[in-house]
Amino acid sequence: RSADRKVDLLITGIGRLVTPVGSHPRGGKEMAVLKEIPQAAIAIAGGRIVLADAEATVLRALGDAVIGEVLDAGGRLAMPGLVDAHTHLVHAGSREHESALKRSGVPYLEILARGGGILSTMKATRTASEQALYDQARRSLDEMLLQGTTTVEAKSGYGLCLEDELKQLSVTRELSKTHPIELVSTFMGAHAVPPEYQGRPDAYVELVVDVMLPKVAEAGLASFCDVFCERGVFTQEQSRRILTEAKRHGLRPKIHADELESLGGLQLAAEVGATSAEHLLVSDDAGLQALADGGVIPVLLPGTSFNLGLNKHARAREMMDQFHLPVTLATDYNPGSSPTESMQLIMALAQIHLRMTPEEIVTACTINAANAIGRGSEIGTLEAGKQADVVIFDVPTLAYLPYHFGINHTFGVIKKGRAAVW
Ligand code: NIG
Ligand code: FE
Repeated sequence: RSADRKVDLLITGIGRLVTPVGSHPRGGKEMAVLKEIPQAAIAIAGGRIVLADAEATVLRALGDAVIGEVLDAGGRLAMPGLVDAHTHLVHAGSREHESALKRSGVPYLEILARGGGILSTMKATRTASEQALYDQARRSLDEMLLQGTTTVEAKSGYGLCLEDELKQLSVTRELSKTHPIELVSTFMGAHAVPPEYQGRPDAYVELVVDVMLPKVAEAGLASFCDVFCERGVFTQEQSRRILTEAKRHGLRPKIHADELESLGGLQLAAEVGATSAEHLLVSDDAGLQALADGGVIPVLLPGTSFNLGLNKHARAREMMDQFHLPVTLATDYNPGSSPTESMQLIMALAQIHLRMTPEEIVTACTINAANAIGRGSEIGTLEAGKQADVVIFDVPTLAYLPYHFGINHTFGVIKKGRAAVW
C-alpha cells in the first residue's frame, strides 16, 4: 500500500483511534467490538482515507509521498464523524411556551390534539420564508458540526401541504450544497394531520400519496419516506399505504413507531422492508423479533424520553443482548420532543438510561447510524477507502466521553478530508 500519490492531509499525533470496522450494521455483541489503535495517524487524499493505522506504519507507507497539510491531534482521541440519523432539522420557531404545559402533566399527544405541538410548528413553518428557514437550520447545523456530527438525516413534515413540504425539502437541498455537513433527506408529509383535513385523515393520506409523493420523487428531493404511526396520528393501515406507495416512487421506507403506544408499526416496518424503525419506547418482544427477522435497524432517541419527562426508556439492552439488533442513536432534533443538536448529550443519556457501554455507543452513533440512512459503505468507520469524516475529542479515555456530560468535548472535525473545525 505504498502511497506513491499525493496525500492532501495527514493527521498525526492521534493518542488513540477508535472505530468499528466494515460497512454493515453491527448487531448485539458485535457492537462492543471496536478496533483501537494507539499512537495513530490518518492519511487522506481526494476526500477519502488512504490509510488509518499506527503512526509509524502510516509514515513508513507514505515514504516520500508529497504531503499537503499536516494536522497534529496532540495525543487526543479520534473516531468516525458522528452520524445523526434522525432529525427534524428544517423548521421555524420554537416551542418553549409548551414546556410549562408539559410539566403540568398535559400529554404530548393532547397538546397536538389541541392544535399545538407539531401543528404549532407547522403554522410557523408555513409562514416562514425559505431564507428564514435556511438561516435557522444553518445555525443548528453549525452547532451540530461543533459537536462532532458530520452527516445528518433531515425530515420534512412541518409543511403538511404540497407547497410547504416542497419548500422545506428545497431548503434541505440548499443546505446540503452550502454546509460542510452532509444531509440525507426524508419526506415526512405524514407527520400529522393538518387542520384542513381535521377528522378526514384518509383524505390527507390520499393527498400525500397522490400529490405529494410523486412531486417529491420527481424533483429528487428525498431518499427516504417516513410516517408517524401513532394513536391519533396515522394508523398501521394508513402508514402501510404511504410506505408502499413511497417504495413505488423509489423512496425507501422509515417509520416513527411505538413512541407512546404500539400500533403494530414494527411489524409493518418488517413487512415493507423499512430501512429503520425509530423511537421504540414501548416496543414488545414480538415487535423486536419482527425487526430482527426483517433486518430493520432500530433508531433510539433518548433525548425524547428525557425531554418529555417520560420515565420510560427504550429496551436497548434487550434489543442488543436478546435480539442481536444493530441499535442506533440519534438526537431526534426538533422543537417539540427533543430540542437538542448534541449527539454528545445523547451519548450521555444512552449510557445512563439505555445502559449502553461506551463502545456500543460509538457503534450506535457511527456505522449503525450510517446504515440507518443507507450510507454504510461510504461513512461510519475510519478505514481505507471510506470518506474522510473524522472527529477528534479532547478526552483522556473513550469512557470519559459519555461520562463527563453537558460540555462539548470536540477539538477538531474533518469532513470529506477538510478541516471544518480545528
Ligand atoms: O420524533 N413524534 C413525532 N415527531 C417528532 C416530534 C415533532 C414535534 O413535536 O415537533 C418526534 O418526536
Ligand atoms: Fe422524530
